Amino acid sequence: MIVVTGATGSIGRELAALLRGRDALAAVRRPAGDLGIPHRIADLERPETIGALLSPGDRLFLNSSIWPGFADAHRAVIDQAARAGVAQIVTVSVRGAAPGGRLATGLHGVVDAHLRASGVPYAILQPTGFMQNLPHDFAGGVMYGSYGTAPVNYIDARDIAAAAAALLTGPAGPSGDHVLTGPESLPHDRIAEEIGRVLGRPARYVDLPVPEMTAHLERRGMPRPQAAELAALMAEIGDGRWASTTTTVEDLTGRPPRPLSAFLTDHKDAFS
Ligand SMILES: NC(=O)c1ccc[n+]([C@@H]2O[C@H](COP(=O)([O-])OP(=O)(O)OC[C@H]3O[C@@H](n4cnc5c(N)ncnc54)[C@H](OP(=O)(O)O)[C@@H]3O)[C@@H](O)[C@H]2O)c1
Repeated sequence: MIVVTGATGSIGRELAALLRGRDALAAVRRPAGDLGIPHRIADLERPETIGALLSPGDRLFLNSSIWPGFADAHRAVIDQAARAGVAQIVTVSVRGAAPGGRLATGLHGVVDAHLRASGVPYAILQPTGFMQNLPHDFAGGVMYGSYGTAPVNYIDARDIAAAAAALLTGPAGPSGDHVLTGPESLPHDRIAEEIGRVLGRPARYVDLPVPEMTAHLERRGMPRPQAAELAALMAEIGDGRWASTTTTVEDLTGRPPRPLSAFLTDHKDAFS
């Protein structure tokens, strides 16, 4: 059986739909509507509830958004999976994850290291930023950031789900990391231009120095320490570290990842 955590999220919901008709089960915190596969109540914050769903030979998709207890909870679930004799864990990390990194990159670095040492066969998906974030970053025709002029890669979360489905339903091959990218990397002014072209109205990117971006995020309600880290992370990504693309999505799924234009066409309403 394939057990899917985070099944109500941006990747998990799409993955559950792709697994329709397979021996698969979603682990959700509260009753969910039709996910395409059956669901049972279990919570990453109570790792034993996930462990209780696992049997020898199962495959586990381990994914959730980030919260302060994320690293402890994910490590504990990995331990539960090891004890249960799970055949493979497929998890979602982030490109460049490393212990000590800023925000999610540091948390994922810790969890990824734990998984690699767990003895459970694994596939660690390391995507770039999700195109699904773009509507939230864009307000009143303006998108603010501290990325400078470097090309930055975004991936459609649906392609991460497709890569996860391929890994979970194929033979559990050798363990490894998979850097997932969209097909193109663009500077943020070009991204804004593309958003404007598809929406049919003016759109622009405004680049801010880190202290001003921090203040901007605070005005939008983000606590200061997190705002400062996020702005600094944007500036780090602005050194071009997310500029290159990989063929991993196509290698795993047999088809290329969706370009930004396809995402925008499918999600026009999210920008209104
Ligand atoms: N967003 C990006 O640009 C980006 C880029 C690279 C990597 N990533 C990584 O991708 C992963 C997914 O990120 P996302 O923000 O898009 O989230 P998401 O996949 O939309 O995940 C949300 C899911 O996590 C579940 N969840 C949250 N807290 C939970 C908890 N305490 N216990 C159990 N389930 C919990 C939610 O359940 P409920 O419905 O019950 O709340 C929901 O199913 C993260 O690890 C993130 O670091 C994100």
